[in-house]
Amino acid sequence: MRQRAMGRLGWTVGEVGYGMWGIGGGPGGFTGWDYDTAPTALDLAVELGCTFFDTAWVYGRGKSESLLGELRRRHAGAEMRLATKVPPRNREWPPRPHDTLEDVFPVDHVLEFTRRSLDNLGVDKIDLLQFHVWEDRWAAEPGWQRVVTRLKDEGLIDGFGMSVNRWEPTNCFAALDTGLVDAVQVIYNVFDQAPEDELFPRALDEDIAIIARVPFDEGSLTGTLTADTTFPPEDWRAVYFGPENLPPTVERVEELRELVPPGTTLPELALRFALHHPAVSAVIPGMRRPEHVRSNLRVAGSELGPDLLDALRAHRWDRTPTHWSM
Ligand SMILES: NC(=O)c1ccc[n+]([C@@H]2O[C@H](COP(=O)([O-])OP(=O)(O)OC[C@H]3O[C@@H](n4cnc5c(N)ncnc54)[C@H](OP(=O)(O)O)[C@@H]3O)[C@@H](O)[C@H]2O)c1
Repeated sequence: MRQRAMGRLGWTVGEVGYGMWGIGGGPGGFTGWDYDTAPTALDLAVELGCTFFDTAWVYGRGKSESLLGELRRRHAGAEMRLATKVPPRNREWPPRPHDTLEDVFPVDHVLEFTRRSLDNLGVDKIDLLQFHVWEDRWAAEPGWQRVVTRLKDEGLIDGFGMSVNRWEPTNCFAALDTGLVDAVQVIYNVFDQAPEDELFPRALDEDIAIIARVPFDEGSLTGTLTADTTFPPEDWRAVYFGPENLPPTVERVEELRELVPPGTTLPELALRFALHHPAVSAVIPGMRRPEHVRSNLRVAGSELGPDLLDALRAHRWDRTPTHWSM
């Protein structure tokens, strides 16, 4: 697999990484998880050259991290870089307008969840610790800056990053000014191209790694949804693909199908789009099924021609954060 630099951190990763939300199961995520199949899918990814794994404590309340820790132990000699996330203390995604840094990332909470993640992953050092949400109005506060500096100085984390809220790619610029942020995780896909406007140029200038998440728009860009698709009420996609979003999404995906070159698939095209930008260090599709792992990891290294890229750019869809977008 083609390797890319993880910004200024001094290490590289295979450009197609593994998004480990769905595989972690538990409440608040995708229903239909399968802990029996999970190790097979993860083993296959390692065998196919995947080296970057993105998890979070909240994915299965430690289960996704534990699956990753077990994977690492099964492949002791393999090159693997592990990224995880500290949950907001108040468990609000995204933060509410009145939430303070103390409500969300107080120092003791960050230290406690770093320890939990180290234990779940079974490592002495986390390659990339990320805050799972962010609001730039907190950037000037010393608390988060001190705890990040401390974790780095104590050798408990190598890099620090933040996952920016859906459709708010510049809501981290004041934090980037501090010089403490090595990586930004952002939604980037054929629909959500706004990170190209300001975030990606800045990341390239300052050698900040970009982790492109949600390359399939939570599944719509795989072409598997129809206007009649429903999800169990406890599946968060029942909210995301609700009546306001599902019909226009499916219409747009139908138009996109015309661009899929013969012999390729829509998921492949979607991944190649997310990989085309030089600011991207890794794209992290969520995958639970081994057949998805196999097809997504095959995509690495493939280029898009300029005409196809222009045609895909025309499918940009700027949306405003709202109650269902989380
Ligand atoms: N706030 C945050 O920090 C945040 C939020 C969201 C996501 N993330 C990270 O980003 C990762 C990716 O996002 P996501 O998982 O939400 O969404 P996604 O990658 O856009 O889509 C995942 C969906 O696509 C399906 N899929 C994957 N490959 C496929 C293929 N080749 N053909 C057909 N279907 C395919 C998956 O099915 P199966 O699962 O059945 O294989 C799953 O239903 C997460 O896993 C997580 O690591 C972070």
